[in-house]
Amino acid sequence: MAQVSSTDPHGSAAVAARIERRWALMVVGIVALLVAIVIFTGLHWAMMPPSRVETIDPTRLHVDGEFIESNLGSAVESDGSVTVRIVGQQYSFTPQCIVVPTKTSVTFRATSSDVVHGMLITGTNINSMLEPGYVATFKTQFDTPGDHLMPCHEYCGVGHEAMWANVKVVDKEDFLKMAAHARRLTCDL
Ligand code: CUA
Repeated sequence: MAQVSSTDPHGSAAVAARIERRWALMVVGIVALLVAIVIFTGLHWAMMPPSRVETIDPTRLHVDGEFIESNLGSAVESDGSVTVRIVGQQYSFTPQCIVVPTKTSVTFRATSSDVVHGMLITGTNINSMLEPGYVATFKTQFDTPGDHLMPCHEYCGVGHEAMWANVKVVDKEDFLKMAAHARRLTCDL
C-alpha cells in the first residue's frame, strides 16, 4: 500500500481514499440533515399543535346539547356561512340526506354516538373519522351543484357496508330560499 502510494500518488489507492472521504462526508451530511429535520418538526409542532380537541359525552347526544336530533342538518349562521351537524351511528347517518349551498363557507361538525365511523364525500377531499366522545370539525366550500355519496369508510360492524348518506349541493339562491322556511335543512324524505 505505502509503496503504491509513494511511487504512484495518482494511483488506485489515492483515488479510493478520495472517493471514500467524499462518501463519508455525504453520509455525515445526510445524518446531519435528518437530525435537523427532526429538531425542526419537533419545535414546529410544539409551537403549533395540530388542532384543538373538542370532547362530548356520546351517551347524551340524543338528550341535550348541540347534537340533539332537532339541531342536526344545515343551519345558516348570522355571518352567512353554513354549519352542518351530523351524527353517525350503527348503521346510518343523521340526517340521511345533507343539503348544502354552492359558493358558501360550509363547516361540518360531526360525531358518533356509538363506535368509530368514517365519512367521506365522493368527488371532494372531505374525509374524516367520527369518534365517539369527540367532535370532528372541518370547513369546506362547494363550487358546483351536484349529488355526492357519503359512505362510512371505517369498518363499524356487520352493517358497515350499508351505512351511507347523500350530499346534495344546490345553488346558493335556492338554498337560501329553502332556509327561509326552516331553521335546520335536510333533504330527507
Ligand atoms: Cu359506520 Cu362503517
